[in-house]
Amino acid sequence: MKEFAFGTEPPGSGRICVVGAGFMGCVIATLYAHHGYDAVICDSNQTMLDTYVERARPIAAGLVENSDASEAMLAGVTLEPDLASAVEGAFLVHEAVQESLEVKQALFAELDRICPENMVLATNTSSFLISDIAAQMTRKERMMGIHYVTPGHIVPVIELIHAADTPAELVAWSRKLVQNIEHVGVAILERPGFLVNRIQFAMLTEIYRLMDEGLVSRSP
Ligand SMILES: NC(=O)c1ccc[n+]([C@@H]2O[C@H](COP(=O)([O-])OP(=O)(O)OC[C@H]3O[C@@H](n4cnc5c(N)ncnc54)[C@H](O)[C@@H]3O)[C@@H](O)[C@H]2O)c1
Repeated sequence: MKEFAFGTEPPGSGRICVVGAGFMGCVIATLYAHHGYDAVICDSNQTMLDTYVERARPIAAGLVENSDASEAMLAGVTLEPDLASAVEGAFLVHEAVQESLEVKQALFAELDRICPENMVLATNTSSFLISDIAAQMTRKERMMGIHYVTPGHIVPVIELIHAADTPAELVAWSRKLVQNIEHVGVAILERPGFLVNRIQFAMLTEIYRLMDEGLVSRSP
C-alpha cells in the first residue's frame, strides 16, 4: 500500500484539534478525550471556550461513571482561541463550526494553508458536499467528512463521507479512527442527505403516508 503523508493508520493517542466549541464540537472533543486523545478545542468566541466544561459535563457523565475521573478528563481538554496554536502538533483537525458553506470554505482554505501536509482535515458538515467545502484547498486529498450523528456520544454510527477522488486509504484511515473511539464508520460517496438523513426522511415519509391512510394516529 502506498504510504500517505498522514500514514496508513491513525495513532491511538496524540493531539486532535476540534474547531468550533458549539453543540457538536463539545461532543466530539469530549469523546476524543474520553478515548485517550489529547483534545484541543478552538473557538473564535471566547465565551464558548469559557463555558465548555459546564456544557460538556452532562456528556462526560454519560461516558465516565466516576465524577472525579470525569472532571479530570474535562480539565485535560485544552481551550485555545488561536487557530494556529490550536492545530500545532495535531494529527487531525475536526471542524464543527456552524453549517455555513462560506464559513467552512474560508476555514478549510486557512487550515490547508497553515497545517502541514501530514495532518488530516475533517468536517462534521451535515449537508454540504465535501468537494464544495474543499473548493479553495490545494491539498484536497487529506479532506474527509467524519459526521457524528446526534447525540454523538450515544449513537455509535459515524458517516464517513468522501468525494469521488478521495484516496481509499484516507477512508480506511477514518474508519480506523472511529473504531478507536468505539464507533462504527459507514462510508458513503458524497451526495445530498448522505445516508442517515436519507433513511430518516424515508421513514418519516412512510409514517406520514400511514397517517394519511388513517392506519396510524398520534393518539392512542
Ligand atoms: N447540532 C446538531 O444536532 C448537529 C448534528 C450533526 C451535525 N451537525 C453539524 O455540526 C456542525 C456544528 O454544528 P453545531 O450545532 O455544533 O454548531 P454551533 O452553532 O452550536 O457551534 C458552532 C461554533 O463554531 C464557532 N465558530 C464559527 N466560526 C469559527 C471559526 N472560523 N473558528 C473557530 N470557531 C468558529 C462558533 O463560535 C460556535 O461556537 C455543523 O456543520 C452542523 O451541521 C450538527
